Amino acid sequence: MSKTITGFSKFSKTQKINWLVKTFFPNDSTAEKTLKQYWNSDKELQQLHDEFIENTVSNYYLPYGVAPNFIINEKQYVIPMAVEESSVVAAASLVAKYWSTRGGFKAEVISTKKIGQVHFMYEGDFNELQDYFNKIKDNLLKSTESITKNMRKRGGGILEIELRDKTADLDNYFQLHITFETKDSMGANFINSCLETIADTFKNDDIQIVMSILSNYLPDCIVRAEVSCKVQDLGESNSGLFAKKFMQAVAIANVEPHRAVTHNKGIMNGIDAVVIATGNDFRAVEAGAHAYASRSGKYKSLTNCEVKDGIFKFWIEIPLALGTVGGLTALHPLSKLSLQMLQNPSAEELMKIVAVAGLAQNFAALRALTTTGIQQGHMKMHLSNIIKQLGATEKERDYLLEHFTDKQVSHSAVVDEFERLRK
Ligand code: MEV
Repeated sequence: MSKTITGFSKFSKTQKINWLVKTFFPNDSTAEKTLKQYWNSDKELQQLHDEFIENTVSNYYLPYGVAPNFIINEKQYVIPMAVEESSVVAAASLVAKYWSTRGGFKAEVISTKKIGQVHFMYEGDFNELQDYFNKIKDNLLKSTESITKNMRKRGGGILEIELRDKTADLDNYFQLHITFETKDSMGANFINSCLETIADTFKNDDIQIVMSILSNYLPDCIVRAEVSCKVQDLGESNSGLFAKKFMQAVAIANVEPHRAVTHNKGIMNGIDAVVIATGNDFRAVEAGAHAYASRSGKYKSLTNCEVKDGIFKFWIEIPLALGTVGGLTALHPLSKLSLQMLQNPSAEELMKIVAVAGLAQNFAALRALTTTGIQQGHMKMHLSNIIKQLGATEKERDYLLEHFTDKQVSHSAVVDEFERLRK
């Protein structure tokens, strides 16, 4: 049967599902049920979700958990996290509590500049282009005035427009490299609208605009979060050795890209979860973070660690383009609720909270990796997933959870014990 379809977006939701079922699940009576099972009985709420994207046929749930007891710059937070990986919220909660008795987290925003570019081709004389740019620069700004009006009222807008010669990298390639301040909004739509208007004003017979788009690489939109305490207060049986191994783990991630990617993935476990819970764009954050991790020409750790004069210090520096107004933040009821739970932060405050979530996650991972190993905690958290997969009853589940409290968890060990129990 052909899987090609025209006019699909015009189908009603039911027609779309019928076509999917007929095409992919002709002998599976559960497919339709599974899709419909996730519809919200509140019709208005369902419609809201349907309209976020095209061709919506269902909702895809992620668990939404909270990690309490975070102290950031002396202020208490409960951090909402949307994530499917079983150990992430538990790790965040554990680390929040741990650092709450050691001075909490300190965080500061270092810079908040966003970037957008108009990419164009020009084959003429560079000096003439430069003259033309100097002459038209004020007009470029003027042409965006109606778009930037509200943003300027909030203290944002276009900070700078530069003409950049990129012909050393690509024949005839130039760009307008434009710096923005977007205050509490992530600013993607604002930046792209400004760029398209600027491109329109800028183009002439000799300038061929290729595209106008924001950049998700934001090395000047940086937040720093840190924890520190006396080595002796780290609370390990041998805190000196712990600090040393911890530092070595970070050092390894700085010289070995295979490890750095996993190290940073663990950081993103925390970061993405809060970014998603607050209705922000995790793909933008991911792309920007990994580009920043490669800024030296080699992919490295996003966190750093130092032990000096008996003080253990661990910190992260990461670009985060986040918004607390606009986008999905007020539209999605759970994003709105997340921001309320975070006491309605400004975008800068949210940058600090998200960076802390990443640092906390990395601390949890490195602490486990350099001491007990990661699997002990992971498999404990994974135990209930395995039990669920086996179709255990509530009584069997309670038994298995109890049984494995002091035993090593592995998939086969759980299956064996389950089978033994059923026999
Ligand atoms: C798993 O999701 C994340 C870790 O692999 C991170 C790390 O190795 O640092 C545990």
